[in-house]
Amino acid sequence: MRITIALLALPLVAAPRPTFTEDVAPIVFSKCAACHRPGEAAPFALLSYDDVKKRGPMLAGVTKARLMPPWHADEGWAKFRDERRLSEAEIATFQNWVKSGMPEGPQSKLPKLPEFPRGWQLGKPDLVLTMERGFEVPADGPDIYRNFVLKLNLPEDKWVKAIELRPSARAVVHHVLYFLDNTGAARRKDGADGKPGFGGMTAGVARGGSLGGWAVGASPRRLPEDLALPLPQGSDIVLQSHFHPTGKMETEQTTIGLYFADKPPSRTLTGVQVPALFGFGAGIDIPAGEADYRIRDSFTLPVDVDVFGAGAHAHYLAKTMRLTATLPDGTSKAVLGINDWDFAWQDQYYFEQPFRLPKGARVDVEIRYDNSTANPRNPQNPPQRVQWGEGSFDEMGSMSLIAVPARESDLAELREALQKHRQAAISGRIRQGVGQLLR
Ligand code: HEC
Repeated sequence: MRITIALLALPLVAAPRPTFTEDVAPIVFSKCAACHRPGEAAPFALLSYDDVKKRGPMLAGVTKARLMPPWHADEGWAKFRDERRLSEAEIATFQNWVKSGMPEGPQSKLPKLPEFPRGWQLGKPDLVLTMERGFEVPADGPDIYRNFVLKLNLPEDKWVKAIELRPSARAVVHHVLYFLDNTGAARRKDGADGKPGFGGMTAGVARGGSLGGWAVGASPRRLPEDLALPLPQGSDIVLQSHFHPTGKMETEQTTIGLYFADKPPSRTLTGVQVPALFGFGAGIDIPAGEADYRIRDSFTLPVDVDVFGAGAHAHYLAKTMRLTATLPDGTSKAVLGINDWDFAWQDQYYFEQPFRLPKGARVDVEIRYDNSTANPRNPQNPPQRVQWGEGSFDEMGSMSLIAVPARESDLAELREALQKHRQAAISGRIRQGVGQLLR
């Protein structure tokens, strides 16, 4: 898919009187059609002149407001991989096209539709796992978040370079996060309510950490360099799936393909999460109606690290999230900023090129929440007091660097500092609890 896209030449300046075939179709085919085609989770197809003309003014509106294509990160430290942001010229092309009456243009200029791959995009996987039973997604009702256990039963420890996801009912699957469970907890919860999997939106069940994720329109990728994530013998994979009902009952039975590395990586991927434990110790306690509630936390890197990407996690009330790095010389720069957090689009953001943060660099995170009625994503009306927790009406909040120590010999020191940071979060939480009891 990426090759086809690269061949479509996109203009740098907007044509004053654009036509569909010459100017609009190249943008729509490369920036919208991957999701807006039959069977994908976007609500309508954008593949023909008629499809696009029918919704022309709406397309001009959502692109101008930067609601589409979905992309929530501000420009960061460096260029992001697979960035979906439209250029100013592309946005102006939609505007000008609608203003000039949405002309079709010469047929001969219509670019070929991109070819969307069928089958495994990364080739034959080393291991294929499928949900034991299908999960019924009703025709309508609210979005559903559900966790499913895929039993690995590995004969030995493995390292995973990529996971490819194949939903059976693509139209209802919005996104899926992958977690590692090395405690057996997910197996025990599985099916407890009579349906496959178990409910809740917790990142906490799977203590083994994140293995990335997939969202509608994303292509699977191998981890860069010789990086790979550990899959210890005895662990399971937990899928946390977000379903969006489409008006038709569907049964989803997801399959994933795992691609293994043939040897352990030379450097160990380490999540630098700030605040630690998804904000457990940050004292999140948001009064009902509070429109600008903030938490902050910092972590100073004890060793040089190379940053490959960054990610964020919160529930519905978070509005803006910012992770900045301040270097020992005092200069500071945003690594990842999200101005309009949307729980439905939790992406991990990888940089095209990794960059180094030196020992002594301070990572600062600030997360702002809006628990007023002015927040259209507030699930509770009237708003209620909200505290940290794993339920969907509770909140969490943290951001993470996806990093490796510059020198593998520094790994123990980095891990020890992160462990102390987590320990401080737990002590902080205990102090708050005692404070609340004494009050
Ligand atoms: C990564 C997948 C993806 C891409 C790329 C994408 N869309 Fe969407 N689009 C969606 C989904 C999913 C929805 C349904 C609403 C949601 O989940 O946010 C949607 C909804 C819409 C809507 C309806 C909005 C509403 O309020 O009902 C419009 C209009 C739209 N997209 C236009 C576009 C245009 C134009 C492009 C390209 C410039 C584009 N989209 C690219 C996934 C995508």
